[in-house]
Amino acid sequence: MCGIVAYIGGKDAAPILLEGLARLEYRGYDSAGVAVAAKGGLKSVKKKGRVADLAAVVPARFKGTSGIGHTRWATHGEPSDVNSHPHLDGSGRFAVVHNGIIENADQLRAKLESEGVVFASETDTEVLAHLVAACAKETDELEDAVRAALSRVVGTYGIAVLDAEHPDRIVVARNGSPIVLGIGEKEMFAASDVAALVRYTRQVVHLDDGELATVRADGFQTFTQDARATAKQPSTVDVEEASYDTEGHAHYLIKEIHEQPGAVERTLSGRVDERFATAHLGGLNLDAREARAFRRVKILGCGSAYYSGELGAQLIEELARIPAHAEPASEFRYRNPVIEADTLYIAVSQSGETYDTLAAVQEIKRKGGRVLGVVNTVGSAIARECDGGVYLHAGPEISVASTKAFTSTAVAFALIALHFGRVHDLSPADGRRICAGLKALPGQIREILADEDRIAKLAAEYAHNAGMMFVGRVRGWPVAREGAQKLKEVSYVHAEAYPASELKHGPLALIGPELPTVAVVPDDELVEKNLTTMGEIRARHGRVLMVGHTAPDPKFAEDAILIPKNEPELDPILLGIPLQLLAYYAAVALERDVDKPRNLAKSVTVE
Ligand code: F6R
Repeated sequence: MCGIVAYIGGKDAAPILLEGLARLEYRGYDSAGVAVAAKGGLKSVKKKGRVADLAAVVPARFKGTSGIGHTRWATHGEPSDVNSHPHLDGSGRFAVVHNGIIENADQLRAKLESEGVVFASETDTEVLAHLVAACAKETDELEDAVRAALSRVVGTYGIAVLDAEHPDRIVVARNGSPIVLGIGEKEMFAASDVAALVRYTRQVVHLDDGELATVRADGFQTFTQDARATAKQPSTVDVEEASYDTEGHAHYLIKEIHEQPGAVERTLSGRVDERFATAHLGGLNLDAREARAFRRVKILGCGSAYYSGELGAQLIEELARIPAHAEPASEFRYRNPVIEADTLYIAVSQSGETYDTLAAVQEIKRKGGRVLGVVNTVGSAIARECDGGVYLHAGPEISVASTKAFTSTAVAFALIALHFGRVHDLSPADGRRICAGLKALPGQIREILADEDRIAKLAAEYAHNAGMMFVGRVRGWPVAREGAQKLKEVSYVHAEAYPASELKHGPLALIGPELPTVAVVPDDELVEKNLTTMGEIRARHGRVLMVGHTAPDPKFAEDAILIPKNEPELDPILLGIPLQLLAYYAAVALERDVDKPRNLAKSVTVE
């Protein structure tokens, strides 16, 4: 989704802004623009297309030591040069970049037009530029003009405002859309995502909702919408710059699939206690008595985060015997949910910025519920909103399709389930069994990845079908759902996931030679039932690719991907890995834009 970057210091701003925007490309966008405060006023260039297209039209004499830049993902008005940000007021004094949605933009636009303001674009953001200009007539201070403008706005925003009359500062503000400040040596940065900053600094300050900041070359001040100063402590971002590079891989997606052994090691690091056969998760902020008191667990997330929550619910029920259920956060937040004091809520998010998940967390907290986060991005909005939680430490995930965060989330849930299990009735012997299984995961993921070439060949064969069915039972069911999700989002091949047990209640009608099925079949107590389902598919001339542990009789499946066996409760974590490779290589075979699938964005920060 949209990205913001801002710079102020002693250097030429434009190259830094363009470099920062290139680092935000992974989020998904359709146009880009920059503005700098130059001698004699603001200069701005914006263009539909890639950041490279923008860089190609930025003139050589585009000089200025403060500036703002933006990558836009269209919401109000089509992708076009004129709808791209920055947006300027009529006099050209102010330039604004904005992430989020101004809900009362139409009313504000009508009011401004009735006062004689002429709009250039269809966007909601342009309203902000004109509003700041109108409010600046009442004050000499840029900060006051921005605050006054924002007080008339309903909606979500992360903004940066550049003022030709105050080129020594940039004002930024946050409400529902992230803004992080980067502290350099006699220079300051601001961005919507640390990815744009890590090349220049590791010292950052995350703004809270309702907070603004004045950023100057020599520092920053933060304050609230009613002009009260706030005190912020900088934190250090623990991220390698190489995470934002494909490092020789054809795509981020395959790089991130291969990073999973290391990501899982980091998720587990320091948390597995073999002596007491449990997991240590200090960030949960729950003592044993509190952990015992919950009678139910409700897990919330969107898309792949929701499917990893389904794996989590299963792990918690199996290991801790606490009833647990996952639900899409996007549905939960709109159905006036009943919040129970003895239910523990867990929000799952890679980015920590997904608006629907954040809104669900806020709804729970408004009603007095206890909510934990399973989040990858340190310091993100969801992480800060929750009462405690577990960081994944999977490292930045750049490709739009989630892979390593999905796997690390499932591992984090296994740790939570082990911990809850051991404060309930999970025996030390079973706890030790799970500890050993967890420690075996990174090595087993490496073994699965070693089968990459064969999976790539199978993917190229299956990719040319019009669609695919994914089936699984109980432990295999969330794996099948995530497998279908991965295939459809990166290859655009239609994929449908069904519980294997439900096939004959309807979708079996679809089965035939033209619709192959991926069957997720762990070696557990349901293996015979799964084989029966596969037999039913084969009897209707459907081709079956089995992902499991034991080679099936050819009468059940034409193809099989076999993976190492772990403990039954942990097997689903491994079963998902070949399905990621299958989706990736299907997308490659079909020459898709693997890292940036059409119509999708990495973090969905709008409703
Ligand atoms: C799928 C995918 C999305 C995200 C979803 C939630 O590969 O990436 O379905 O899982 O948009 O995003 P986060 O985890 O950032 O809240």
